Amino acid sequence: MVKVHSPRCFITLILLLLPLLLTTANAFNHYQNKKQPRTIRNYTERRNLNFFSCGTGNPIDDCWRCDKLWYRNRKRLADCAIGFGRNAIGGRDGRYYVVTDPSDNDAVNPKPGTLRHAVIQDRPLWIVFKRDMVITLKQELIMNSFKTIDARGFNVHIAHGACITIQYITNVIIHGLNIHDCIQTGNAMVRSSPSHFGWRTMADGDGISIFGASHIWIDHNSLANCSDGLIDAIIGSTAITISNNFFTRHNEVMLLGHSDSYVRDKHMQVTIAYNHFGEGLVQRMPRCRHGYFHVVNNDYTHWEMYAIGGSANPTINSQGNRYLAPLNTHAKEVTKRVETGEYTGEDTWKNWNWRSDGDLLLNGAYFTASGAGSAASYARASSLSAQSSSVVGTLTSGAGVLNCRRGIMC
Ligand SMILES: *[C@@H]1O[C@H](CO)[C@@H](O)[C@H](O)[C@H]1NC(C)=O
Ligand SMILES: *[C@@H]1O[C@H](CO)[C@@H](O)[C@H](O)[C@H]1NC(C)=O
Repeated sequence: MVKVHSPRCFITLILLLLPLLLTTANAFNHYQNKKQPRTIRNYTERRNLNFFSCGTGNPIDDCWRCDKLWYRNRKRLADCAIGFGRNAIGGRDGRYYVVTDPSDNDAVNPKPGTLRHAVIQDRPLWIVFKRDMVITLKQELIMNSFKTIDARGFNVHIAHGACITIQYITNVIIHGLNIHDCIQTGNAMVRSSPSHFGWRTMADGDGISIFGASHIWIDHNSLANCSDGLIDAIIGSTAITISNNFFTRHNEVMLLGHSDSYVRDKHMQVTIAYNHFGEGLVQRMPRCRHGYFHVVNNDYTHWEMYAIGGSANPTINSQGNRYLAPLNTHAKEVTKRVETGEYTGEDTWKNWNWRSDGDLLLNGAYFTASGAGSAASYARASSLSAQSSSVVGTLTSGAGVLNCRRGIMC
C-alpha cells in the first residue's frame, strides 16, 4: 500500500509534481483562450509562444511561417487565426484529403480525388493538393462544415468557372488559393453533402460567397476579376476574418451585409486585416451594412471611386491602415455613404459610427468620420490590436498566395 509517511514527504511529492501541474495548467489555459469567443488576443503573448527570430510583426504569419517543416505541421495554421473569425478551426480535427484530380465533370456524383468530392464530405477534412493545378468548376463549389482548403506548396487556381460557396455552414478555412475570373453558373443540380443534392438557380459569380455562415477565415489568397464580388458575406453571416489577401482587377470587391432591410445582419462581425487592395480595383473594400467591421492594418494602394462604403448604419472601425488616394481629384475620399432608398443625406448618416484611428492618409486621401462613437459600439468592432500604420508595408508584404515549397520557409 502506498502511504504518505510524513508532512515533509508530502511536500516533497508536491514539489516534484509542480512543473508537471504548471505545464498542464498552461496548456489548458492556452486551449481556453482559443475557445473564448470574446477575448482579444494579446499579440505580444502570441509571439512569445512561438518563434523569436524570424517574425515580421504580422501576428498570423509569425505564428507559423518561420517553421521550415510547415508541410509536416500544416494543422498548426488553424491555431493562428485572429480577429472575429479566430475560432474557425476548419478541418483541424480531421484527416488529410489529397486532391489529385483537377476535373469537375459531375457536380452530383463527384469523382474521389476531386476538390468537389473533398469539400462535400460530412466529416472534418484538411484538404491539400498533390501538384500544381487549375480547377475550372462547372458549378459552384458548395462546401460542407469543418473543412480547410490548404493550397500551400502548390500553385492552385480556381478560375474561369464557378467558384466557392460557403452556405449555412460553419468552420471553414481557405488558405493559399488563386481565385479569379469566376463566372455565373447555375440552373443545375449540385451536391452539397453525401446525402443531399439540389437544384441551384443562377449564381452571381462571386469568388467566395459566404451566405448564412459563421466561423470563417480567408487567409493568404489572391483574388481577381470575378463576375460579382471577390468576397461577399450576407444573410446573417458572422465571425469572419479576411486576412493577408491580395485583391486586384475588380470593380465591386467586397460586400458585407445583404440589404438595408435585412436586419439580421446587425449581428455581423468581420475583421479585415493585413490585406493589400491593389491595382485595378474600383470600390467596395468593403461596402458594409448594419454590422460591426474592424478594418485594420490594410494597405490600400489603388481605388478608382472609394475604398470603404456603407449604408444602413454599420459601425466601421478603421485603424492603422495606409490609404493612398488616386490622382483623380474627385476620388480622394476613402469613405462613401451609399445612398439607397430611404438612406440619403447627412441627416441619415451623421449618427453612424465610422472612425479613423491612426490611419495614414496619403496623396490627399481623407476619411469622413461620423457618429458619437460610443465606446461600447467600437468595442464590438474591435477584434485585435492595431499596429502603427508606419509598419503596414511590412505587415502586408506577403499578402496573397505565398510561394511555399517543402523544406524551406514559406
Ligand atoms: C501582453 O502580454 C505581454 C507579455 O506577456 C505583457 O507584457 C503585456 O502587458 C500584455 N498586454 C496586454 C494589452 O495585455
Ligand atoms: C476579366 O474577365 C473578363 C472575362 O470574364 C475578360 O474579358 C477581362 O479582360 C478580364 N479583365 C481583366 C482586367 O483581367
